[in-house]
Amino acid sequence: MDIMSKLNFKTIEWKDDFVRLIDQTKLPGELTFYDCHELADFIDAFKRLVVRGAPAIGVTAAYAMAVASIKGWDMTKTAGELIDARPTAVNLSWAVKRMMALVESGKGDTISLMAEAKVIHDEDARMCESMGEIGDKLIKPGMRILTHCNAGALATGGIGTALAVIYVSHFNDKGISVWVDETRPLLQGARLTAWELQRAGVPCKLITDNMAASLMASRQVDCVITGADRIAANYDVANKIGTYSLAVNCNYHGIPFYVAAPGSTFDYECPDGRSIEIEMRVGEEITTIAGNRIAPEGIDTYSPAFDITPHELVTAIFTEKEMIKP
Ligand code: MRU
Repeated sequence: MDIMSKLNFKTIEWKDDFVRLIDQTKLPGELTFYDCHELADFIDAFKRLVVRGAPAIGVTAAYAMAVASIKGWDMTKTAGELIDARPTAVNLSWAVKRMMALVESGKGDTISLMAEAKVIHDEDARMCESMGEIGDKLIKPGMRILTHCNAGALATGGIGTALAVIYVSHFNDKGISVWVDETRPLLQGARLTAWELQRAGVPCKLITDNMAASLMASRQVDCVITGADRIAANYDVANKIGTYSLAVNCNYHGIPFYVAAPGSTFDYECPDGRSIEIEMRVGEEITTIAGNRIAPEGIDTYSPAFDITPHELVTAIFTEKEMIKP
């Protein structure tokens, strides 16, 4: 089943000596591209969420290390700056460290680094498909699935993590449908997941984040599937802010809460969720929507980008290899 060709877009594209990204800040209005030639372009793309989603950030960072080698940048300094751009998604440091290991082994010539970045990209695409197949085993015909943020093709080097499960089930003709959480403050659900699912022809309905609990109470949600930015050794899950409240609501209503994530999202050096650094974002992302001010000037804000869902609330984690029941 070639789901990627049905979606018909490339989130990340290697262009011999630079990287072309879909500019996700412009979706769904425009499908335009952002080319990364310089280190500052990559850092800007990460910080402004031109490219976002843990696996997609990892793949892009691997290509950034290949560009660094082509252009003769200081590899250690580049690695450090890339890793610092977004602290929560562990795939970023995972990919950069894998590229640095090649450099430090003495086998990190430019050709080998370009090849390694491509391998990381291809592996990610394959992992997405396996996650989709593994997760699909738990999806029953007609299920109404709720998802949060965007864990789709726009967030990975392949067909997604949570959305991979949804795509596989949909194209296996299970007649599923999807509730798309808008995902305040940056609206990755409304802007990106709704765009992707519509493009793939998956039946979906957009809701605001605060509608999920009442939908669950009226038995209109059969399961929730999200992605993850980092999973600790005890299987606590860091993911987009709002994920924890979905898991709590699932627990209260007896609804399964699933997470789909590749091996590159697991961080066994973090014993539990408390040791995961949570990225803080600027208040402007809360006080404005698409550049329009919605709160009074000078109001104080609090804007963590992610939250931690304790493992007790996670029914199963789908990886590319197995289904883990925390
Ligand atoms: O801030 P973002 O848009 O990078 O956050 C993305 C998420 O939280 C995703 O759910 C996660 O990275 C998994 S993507 C397959």
